[in-house]
Amino acid sequence: MDLGNNERRMLRAMLSEPNRTWSLGQLLSATGWDDQVHVAGAGAGLEEFGLAEVSEERVSSVSLGEEGKSAATEGLLEDRLWGWLREQDPDSRTMATLSSEFERNEAGPGVGLLKVLGISLENGRFVVDDEGTVDSAIEQRTAFVGLLADGPMDESELDAEMVSHFSSRKGLIVVEQRVSRSWTLTEAGSSVDSSTLDEVEMIGDVTPELLQGDEWRGARFKPFDVNAPAPTPSGGRPHPMQALIETIRSVFLEMGFSEIEGDFVQSAGWNMDALFIPQSHPARTMQDTFYLSEPEQVEVDSEYLDLWAKVHEHGHDTGSRGWGGEFDRDEARKALLRTHTTVNTVRHIADNPHQPCRVFGIGRVFRQESIDRTHLPEFYQIEGIIHEAEANLPMLISTLKTFYSKMGFPDVRVRPAYFPYTEPSVEVDVMWKGEWLELGGSGIFRPEVTEPLGTEWPVCAWGLGLERLAMLTLELDDIRELYLPDLEKLRRMPIL
Ligand code: PHE
Repeated sequence: MDLGNNERRMLRAMLSEPNRTWSLGQLLSATGWDDQVHVAGAGAGLEEFGLAEVSEERVSSVSLGEEGKSAATEGLLEDRLWGWLREQDPDSRTMATLSSEFERNEAGPGVGLLKVLGISLENGRFVVDDEGTVDSAIEQRTAFVGLLADGPMDESELDAEMVSHFSSRKGLIVVEQRVSRSWTLTEAGSSVDSSTLDEVEMIGDVTPELLQGDEWRGARFKPFDVNAPAPTPSGGRPHPMQALIETIRSVFLEMGFSEIEGDFVQSAGWNMDALFIPQSHPARTMQDTFYLSEPEQVEVDSEYLDLWAKVHEHGHDTGSRGWGGEFDRDEARKALLRTHTTVNTVRHIADNPHQPCRVFGIGRVFRQESIDRTHLPEFYQIEGIIHEAEANLPMLISTLKTFYSKMGFPDVRVRPAYFPYTEPSVEVDVMWKGEWLELGGSGIFRPEVTEPLGTEWPVCAWGLGLERLAMLTLELDDIRELYLPDLEKLRRMPIL
């Protein structure tokens, strides 16, 4: 039996009178402790070892309320009224004089109290039936208040009628329920030999200094209860979204990609025309895209405007027939908030057409969406390309599979899809809790995209949703939770 020091001390104290039932107060003075936590803790320990028993009793304790305290010093209201009444000669025992002598908030209830004591009002005058009864009733009440003036008492020790009388009056007494505990030794407890209960020095902190010496060899160690409830430290931590972005970043870096960035403000030309999105495409309207009024236009290199015009109008020499119609260069100059990060990868190719690359970027994009459980007008995309002579569809799919499995989603599937700028186009789904969830789009850029950029190599491209992934990793079912400043919830989100 491995008793701790507190348990030893409490058991020794109880063994001084093994058959007694100990109250909290008695144990405090017998052990010398000043905090009842020690008694409760050591008592629970002794109980676990089968050495002591704790019993709990619900008691109600009665003490004086605010009114009661002032009654204890100034006298009960009925006592003061009665005292005053007795001193008046019978003619001035009237309601009128009483009202001039006492405040209204005392006179009103006071008369009520007197009536119950048998003092009635007849034609404005107080008439007393039996002075003796009034005297003794008031005396009894005064004595009760006096008794409680010394401190709270158990209800069981008090006159039940008085308790019920004062309970019905406002603020005079307070009745509180509390639990009173008492401790007794079991048979096993009372047969312990007190001389074996010396307190021993126990090591609670295992420090490097301690382990360097030899002292710990013979010492006793304090047992730890690893299941004991402990406060959760809540220090600072990165926002879960920031942590997720860092994880994704390191996954792509690990896979040999470099990171690129781009501006939020772009021209419609780079954001859309470069991607062979027809100028009449529904997604290009104000309802879907945030166009800017300052600046209203962004300058675009005329070399590109000319190329896109040819490709859009008749396909140039890409083998495509284009979209037909007339290409509007002013439309291409319109300033907007980028609607996808594909604009970054496309511009990267235009800037480095002859250099093979594997690049990625995680950035914010903007679309006119109404906010709901799964939509926000600002969100992040995880964009990437493989731009090299051998780039092909299997390479694209295996790259995405590798990425998602490193993120903890080993089951990935792709489905045919449509984007104006890729052929073939595929949608990427991951398996989560038995369901396929769509996380992004990808494909091989069409010649209508790559040719004006000046490259001859194929390009694997993808744009994946970050918030969707975050919702899965953090187990959220409302996208807005990611950005609400609810510290409690943020604190409880898993550390990534
Ligand atoms: N830009 C597309 C989107 O925003 C995703 C995508 C990127 C599709 C690259 C194909 C290739 O949904």
